[in-house]
Amino acid sequence: MFDLVIVANRLPVDRIKLPDGSNGWRTSPGGLVTAIEPVMRSNHGVWIGWPGGTDGDEELFSADGLDLAPMSMSAEEIELFYEGFSNGCLWPLYHDVVVKPEFHREWWDSYVSVNRRFAEKAASLAAEGATVWVQDYQLQLVPQMLRDLRPDLRIGFYLHIPFPPAELFQQLPWRRQILEGLLGADLVGFQLPGAAQNFVRLVRQRVGHKTHRDLVYLPDGRTVRAAAFPISIDAKGFEDMARDPEVESRAEEIREALGSPRTVFLGVDRLDYTKGIFARLRAFSEVMKEGHFGVEDAVFVQVAVPSREQVEEYRILRDEIERLVGRINGDLGEIGRPAIHYLHSSYPRAEMAALYRMADIMVVTPYRDGMNLVAKEYVATRFENDGALVLSEFAGAAEELRQAYLVNPHDINGMKQALRDAYDASPKESSKRMKAMRKTVTQNDVKAWADSFLLALSQVGTHEKEPR
Ligand code: UDP
Ligand code: G6P
Repeated sequence: MFDLVIVANRLPVDRIKLPDGSNGWRTSPGGLVTAIEPVMRSNHGVWIGWPGGTDGDEELFSADGLDLAPMSMSAEEIELFYEGFSNGCLWPLYHDVVVKPEFHREWWDSYVSVNRRFAEKAASLAAEGATVWVQDYQLQLVPQMLRDLRPDLRIGFYLHIPFPPAELFQQLPWRRQILEGLLGADLVGFQLPGAAQNFVRLVRQRVGHKTHRDLVYLPDGRTVRAAAFPISIDAKGFEDMARDPEVESRAEEIREALGSPRTVFLGVDRLDYTKGIFARLRAFSEVMKEGHFGVEDAVFVQVAVPSREQVEEYRILRDEIERLVGRINGDLGEIGRPAIHYLHSSYPRAEMAALYRMADIMVVTPYRDGMNLVAKEYVATRFENDGALVLSEFAGAAEELRQAYLVNPHDINGMKQALRDAYDASPKESSKRMKAMRKTVTQNDVKAWADSFLLALSQVGTHEKEPR
């Protein structure tokens, strides 16, 4: 039994088959894993989640010092719960309907039954009075299901992605069930204050509970708090990695392999339609075509991490981006000098640090993003206060990183201007901006985030009776 239980759809590692047929493990993708892993290391406890793939056993195991409880998933659950309801309905709905969400009743049924299995697993592993911290949009029903099973627990929920405005959330046929699911938690955390306010307003309007500021008063006397806790990274860990001589020489090696251009632009994203990859590459290619810089001066390295490849919208996006990269390189590239280096692959953390170190301009242009940790990681690795960040104003990170070159990714001309400005910036200007951003990132690291959430969770109280 454990005093701290993390419940997330993903484990920090995916189970993979090694060439000799035995089981191996590989770091799983995404910002949630990056953020929660250091929290688990310092707090101990167990992490419940899916190790990727179908079926497999549910034996507890330890990997790299973490206690992990794998949840198996059938092929049908992957299709209906994961690809369907989580990533064909909730993901686009919560990201400003960048693509159209689909509402299918059989997806919802699977979402309910998989959430129930996660709740039962958490109930079986939590010690008396333990803290259970449920993560993200895939598991919004778990807090209430778990409370029904184990009223003794302290339950927190954190949403890593944006929470939509009421006009969009209201489209969801199961909107009331989702709100009630979340209200099973004592504390519901969001990336930004606006999201917490949207949630409280919806609870008042749709469920009819009394609310006051960030508190919801339930008829049974329980109080639920909804507040913002902007997530962050292990800033010191990234800086230390960036200072490692091996990482530094790897960064130099990459630059040389690129032909030692004056300026390297870098994008690193899961291959996701929320990330604005297509628009940014177009903007870059237009600036190059117009002669602001040529292929001998600048190059764009785009890492596109494979993601949710069975979901149709993701396949379409991949085709579109790869066609665009081909066209741009065909039009602008020279022998041995493509304009864009496109890598459809994922990299371990040390290689990420080397990529950040070798890049002069990091380009992060999502149409909507809960936070975007890549932007913060880039800043953390720039210990010499050089480099520039072009950042979408629709990423949560833009609320903190005000000294970035902020852009609206829907505005291609605006994005082109930001790319030119970052390219032309003097070292003095870059250093001023980077210094300020580094201060923000190092002061608010992921430890501070987790500590403040867990402290707030321990402090949520009950009220004697419903306030008037
Ligand atoms: N990442 C990684 N290897 C890669 C690409 C990305 O480890 O090849 C990590 C990256 O360092 C970051 C996370 O994946 O910690 C992405 O988080 P972010 O918040 O930027 O986006 P998300 O994928 O969660 O939408
Ligand atoms: C985002 C989500 C996470 C998710 C990650 C990777 O960061 O907030 O919950 O784990 O993307 O996506 P995947 O579908 O591969 O788990």
